[in-house]
Amino acid sequence: MNNFSDGEAFGRVNLIGEHLDYNQGCVMPLQINKSVKVFLKKDTAIEGIKIKSENFDYEIVTTAINKKLGDWADFIIGSLYFFSKKYNLKIEQLNIKVQSNLPIGIGVSSSAAVTVSTLRALYGLFNRKIENSELVELAHSVERDFVGVAGGVMDQFASIYGSQDQALFLDTKTNNYNLIKLSDEYIFFIIDSGTQRILTDGSLNKKKEVCKKISSKLNVEYLCRLDELDEDHKKILTNEELDIARHVIYENQRSILGKKALIENNIEEFGSLMTQSHVSLRDLYRVSTRELDLLVDLCNKFGSMGSKLTGAGFGGAIVTLIKKELVEDLKMFIVENYPNAKFL
Ligand code: GLA
Repeated sequence: MNNFSDGEAFGRVNLIGEHLDYNQGCVMPLQINKSVKVFLKKDTAIEGIKIKSENFDYEIVTTAINKKLGDWADFIIGSLYFFSKKYNLKIEQLNIKVQSNLPIGIGVSSSAAVTVSTLRALYGLFNRKIENSELVELAHSVERDFVGVAGGVMDQFASIYGSQDQALFLDTKTNNYNLIKLSDEYIFFIIDSGTQRILTDGSLNKKKEVCKKISSKLNVEYLCRLDELDEDHKKILTNEELDIARHVIYENQRSILGKKALIENNIEEFGSLMTQSHVSLRDLYRVSTRELDLLVDLCNKFGSMGSKLTGAGFGGAIVTLIKKELVEDLKMFIVENYPNAKFL
């Protein structure tokens, strides 16, 4: 697009380590080959800002960038607002266009992608520079403090530091990370259940609140500081809290084992950890749905090495680890048994 400053950011699939980034645990996202592109241009014919996405038939016009509209565009508006505050700039008369082939609301991090691409375009337009680590924090604060979804830093980190052929193992306690090469024979294949989930409804925030409450009862700063639950811990917690704590603590151990398995190219072990993660998200953390469980079971029955829901859950997509040469047959099997499935 002529005379526009543009920014692009890719989505991600999380391979293991779900709901750990706001508990300071270890996660393992992999970028996917689908992205959001944001184009910005000064336009004196516009009073405030105008936003138009190719994927929606309406246009958004606002002069108040400090206010949420309750729309997907809040990630853009929040980025403008936080950028303007950081540099003490007035942001107005801006024409914004969005192109995206990254599905919204299925757990592949479209929110972080739209935020990061907007910020990248803004840095270009205003000719400013920012370190990657600071960009992660800025994008994360837009999501947490402007839009009000209280996840951790995984999605922004994956979008900025991630890779499409190497998994990113990130310890969210220190933000230290490693990139791990993937096997050429296998693929992490994503299947959308066709049931969207909306995290702005507070479902993720509620889980985070419970984790905070448990940490304070157990006298630790974050749940991932614990490696085990002993008898004393168990006495303090309600049954529901105990399940949540078990998921977080053992999922963190699975992430660390998963890193070792991937480095050693132990696909069987990694697949098994993925399915254990799903079972824990289903039975202990309770963020799965009937549709996600069905897709996971179908893939595993077909011959995947392992499968799990990806992202926050509550609907959305699953990821399955399968031999590349079996993918076309898997697709046929899924369509026969779950006709609403979409393949990414
Ligand atoms: C959402 C959040 C992430 C992470 C995942 C669950 O995608 O944005 O920060 O908490 O859920 O792993």
